[in-house]
Amino acid sequence: MIKKAIILAGGMGTRLSPLTKAVNKQLLPVYDKPLIYYPLSILMLAKIKKILIIVNKGQLYQYKKLIPNGRNLGIEINYLEQEKPVGLPDAFILGKNFIGKDKIAMILGDNFFYGQGLSEKLKSCTKLKKGAKIILHKVPKPESFGIAKINKKNRILNIVEKPKKKISNFAITGLYFFDNKVVEYSKKLKPSTRGELEITDLLKKYLKNKNLKAEFIGRGGAWLDTGSIDDFYKTSMFVHAIENRQGVKIACLEEISLLNNWIGKKEIMSQIKFYGNCEYSSYLKKLLK
Ligand code: DAU
Repeated sequence: MIKKAIILAGGMGTRLSPLTKAVNKQLLPVYDKPLIYYPLSILMLAKIKKILIIVNKGQLYQYKKLIPNGRNLGIEINYLEQEKPVGLPDAFILGKNFIGKDKIAMILGDNFFYGQGLSEKLKSCTKLKKGAKIILHKVPKPESFGIAKINKKNRILNIVEKPKKKISNFAITGLYFFDNKVVEYSKKLKPSTRGELEITDLLKKYLKNKNLKAEFIGRGGAWLDTGSIDDFYKTSMFVHAIENRQGVKIACLEEISLLNNWIGKKEIMSQIKFYGNCEYSSYLKKLLK
């Protein structure tokens, strides 16, 4: 079972400047809550409690104000700072002590997932015994993502980061499950021509050893990468539409924790006090009834 995960929540957020000049991208709002709540909720739905959040150097205090240690959420939050955004696999080099001898999941701090049956799919991914698993989703613009070519039996044939020539429409989303080899493999990676350690190069090592499997979000699900300001806006509108139509919140961390039996009334009350008089607190108050 995978019981630990990393949220990679650093990066310069250059494409969202000037918004990201003062605030880290993952703390910007997606409708009614900070972006980081969404990937964190995904890990909690997968029943992962031990989490390392990697943030930009100098921005730790911003995160700690929002999520000091996770105790009120029934989880354990650890933090590390990344000196420079040198690539996604750096997370496994920085996080090697946190990972120890265990398997590890990673989610990118700017990825948004939503869909029917998602929790069950996530839980099944945490049962990974060896190798790595990636989550694929069809996209109209494959040139913007890491892309996987698959055969009819859903076996992965090839992987390319932001392909100039189309090889497939299946994007590799920012949610990955790895065995412990990920640390060793990451340490051996060399920077690409754009000067970064590439997650696709890491995945290729697993592919070469026939140890890379794919899971699919499917038609009933949504995956949004909040890379641009337009994506941010679209994701906010998506959350607004669902929450207002159904009267339930997406990524209410306290609600997920309560349903997981990780926290009780005491912690919810304490979170209400922490957030103060706001719409999110009113929602939490309803959970107490
Ligand atoms: O969103 C999925 C895509 O994410 C994958 O399909 C690609 O294969 C993968 O390379 C990645 O592509 P992006 O171009 O979206 O990566 P980006 O540089 O925007 O970084 C994603 C998040 O990770 C973002 O929130 C910033 C954070 N980050 C990134 C780097 C490179 C860090 O915290 N540290 C880093 O060193």
